[in-house]
Amino acid sequence: MLFPTFYVPGLGQGMSIALVAVVHVLISHGFAIGLLTLIVLMEHLALRRGDGELEDLARHLLKPAVIIVTAVGAVTGAGIWFTVSVLAPQGIGSMLRVFFWPWFIEWIAFTLEVLVLLPYYFLWERMRAKHAGLHLALGWSYVAIAFCSAFLISGILGFMLTPDGWVQNQRLVSAFFNPTFWPQLALRFLGGLALGGLFCLGMVLFSRKPAAELRGQVMRLLGGWVLAAGALAALAAWFYFSAVPRTYSVHKVFAVLTSRLSQEAWLLWLGNILAVVVVAAAAAAALARLKLAARLLIIPALILAVGLVIEFERSREFIRGPYLMPGYMYANQVPLARGELLKRRGMLSQAAWYAAQPPGLEPRAPAGHALFMANCGVCHSIGGLNDIRDRLAGRTQPSVGVMVRRTEQMVPFMPAFSGTPDEALTMAAYLYEISGQRRSIDAAPPIGREGGRHE
Ligand code: HEC
Repeated sequence: MLFPTFYVPGLGQGMSIALVAVVHVLISHGFAIGLLTLIVLMEHLALRRGDGELEDLARHLLKPAVIIVTAVGAVTGAGIWFTVSVLAPQGIGSMLRVFFWPWFIEWIAFTLEVLVLLPYYFLWERMRAKHAGLHLALGWSYVAIAFCSAFLISGILGFMLTPDGWVQNQRLVSAFFNPTFWPQLALRFLGGLALGGLFCLGMVLFSRKPAAELRGQVMRLLGGWVLAAGALAALAAWFYFSAVPRTYSVHKVFAVLTSRLSQEAWLLWLGNILAVVVVAAAAAAALARLKLAARLLIIPALILAVGLVIEFERSREFIRGPYLMPGYMYANQVPLARGELLKRRGMLSQAAWYAAQPPGLEPRAPAGHALFMANCGVCHSIGGLNDIRDRLAGRTQPSVGVMVRRTEQMVPFMPAFSGTPDEALTMAAYLYEISGQRRSIDAAPPIGREGGRHE
């Protein structure tokens, strides 16, 4: 608790980070990798065949891609840093220490990506006459740099689930080339290519630009592309989940469906099979040049493909259970090594920002609230998603007292409370009070009736 905690009403901390990150993933994978690779490939084919119409189409598709990548993609990329450094400063601080060089290089890669993409877009017309080959080289270098970015980020993200030998040897190489590194890199790259193919197909199907003949050719290309990249991405996903330790992978259904639906695992299967079938059908329709069928299928295919991306990111983030970095730090940013110390010395006594109130003034928030935010606030909100008041509603004060000290035994995702038994009581009293407010609104059943509830 070296840093103050911020409360995001409604969404809570975890979902705020996730929302920005998922938008960024969709754009960085689908547009920055997938769609742009396809555009460069189209330019390549156009130059080889001397097909001016295809080159025009590639250029036409580039405009929205560049706007989305440089505006939304870059803003959400910086946005991840902003949300994470405000909401999880200790976690990101530790990650920066482990991955200083990969991140340093990634920032250079990101800048280069933009520096290459902008002339690729703005100078297309001017280079077309005499320097077409050079222009194409610019395009392929963009693709290479985008791949480098994916390479660097995959090592860092994989570490957060499977740090492998790093916990013992603290070596960057162990941390980076962790057991899920290669399958995750393959999955992100191939998944990005498939998603980009779908975006591109959607644009081509609904654009007035290409003439019927060219549209047919491009539909064929994109249909085959989505089928091939999608099949390879599915294979990579299978390798990825086989590399995840069982201790984590068993949490997948619970992580995606939450406790409410966790007994209905078939829902998850149904959703995944439906997504694969609809995406494959849209791609097959494009391959067969069936314009109407492809137009009907592309929107549901895109929605379901986005759903698959969200499912993957959510499971990856959630299944690692009580950890932010297994073997090193809990999800609530308490390093494992400090957990015991905090239990003995207390959390508030270590909380510089909490104690540092001007003398004579009440602390900014009640101690119970501060303890809740530091211990549980990363996953629970008050009055929003995963509302702690719902989780504790209807409990007696002693049972709340027991529960807050047994969190690690209740749900596999939850870390233990870090603090002294007194602090646990303080937090329990606060939580009991706020969940009691909810109960008085919802009108609890009278004492002693059905079920013999004792308040
Ligand atoms: C890493 C995330 C995370 C942290 C940190 C966390 N929880 Fe949870 N907690 C969850 C999830 C996820 C659930 C289950 C939600 C659902 O029903 O799907 C849950 C459920 C609960 C439940 C209901 C359990 C049941 O079986 O009815 C209680 C009570 C609870 N949490 C209390 C706490 C308290 C107190 C803390 C802080 C000491 C805490 N949690 C910290 C993620 C977390």
